[in-house]
Amino acid sequence: MMEQLVRGIPKAELHLHIEGSLEPELMFELAERNGVDLPYSSVEEIRAAYEFSDLQSFLDIYYAGAGVLQKTEDFFDLTWAYLNRMQSENVRHVEIFFDPQTHTDRGIPFRTVITGIHNALEAAREKYGITSFLILCFLRHLSEEAALETLEEALPFRDWIEGVGLDSSEVGFPPENFERAFARAAEHGFRKVAHAGEEGPPEYIWNSLDVLGVSRIDHGVRCTEDQKLVERIVREQMPLTVCPLSNIKLRVFDKMEDHNLKKMLDQGIRVTINSDDPAYFGGYINQNFLAAQQALKLNENEIIEIAKNGFRSSFLPQQSINAHLESIDEFVRQVKNSV
Ligand code: HPA
Ligand code: ZN
Repeated sequence: MMEQLVRGIPKAELHLHIEGSLEPELMFELAERNGVDLPYSSVEEIRAAYEFSDLQSFLDIYYAGAGVLQKTEDFFDLTWAYLNRMQSENVRHVEIFFDPQTHTDRGIPFRTVITGIHNALEAAREKYGITSFLILCFLRHLSEEAALETLEEALPFRDWIEGVGLDSSEVGFPPENFERAFARAAEHGFRKVAHAGEEGPPEYIWNSLDVLGVSRIDHGVRCTEDQKLVERIVREQMPLTVCPLSNIKLRVFDKMEDHNLKKMLDQGIRVTINSDDPAYFGGYINQNFLAAQQALKLNENEIIEIAKNGFRSSFLPQQSINAHLESIDEFVRQVKNSV
């Protein structure tokens, strides 16, 4: 019953790095197609290398893997594979991150990157009815000037991009470093989100809210170290895009039983469940739901609320959100009638 509920319930995914959905098989195929040398001789060897001790140990491998992405069709194939997977997991809406600087810094044009991703998103909208928004992430280990240049490069594609985000190495790269870049993005009408409180302290969450003015916090799990911050997040119903398997793989928590997801839910925080970098962390969105459900003994109502929170926290218009919430209620009625 629980597995049927998780797999079938309509879902939204709000925290997914498209480069982090690059499966070893496709990495291998693209390396061959583009004549790129990989430091691995087999798909198994790639998978075996995915043992991480913290965020940075993951990022080193993640940025290296992205080197096989070179042509528009590579970005299309990457995104299309992810969206087919989402169709099979009953995900109806996605808001996905891309990291243009990872590609433009190695000579791949911005246009190449975004065209491939955008075309796949449009194809999934037509074929599956999956709706989507694209969020451009600035790499926080690079300078604010570089972020501002990337924002300029994005402007010809303004209509294809819903918002901006902030990712990469967190500790030592606080959100306030990007105050001007986020202010400029807001002038152009972009929505704002930021990774904060994954490895970084609660202060990074405060400043993402107060200095950057974000409307969602990505990860945010360290908020529970600061009761005043929790009170604010609850009061404002500020969404957190939590990624359970990622947090275990990157040792934010030792094991899933230690994850504070249920504690946050019990405190009234608007928690969503997402996959972050599923090809690297061992599971897509349904696996994230199931792993958290099992370890934390989430009940059916909690699963339903988390799925609803995904749509409530999305950048969809309120009418579409309401329609998705109704489709969840309808699905739940069907499941309950069938047992
Ligand atoms: N944190 C920061 N940067 C990232 C992540 C993450 O979880 N995944 C991809 N880039
Ligand atoms: Zn992330």
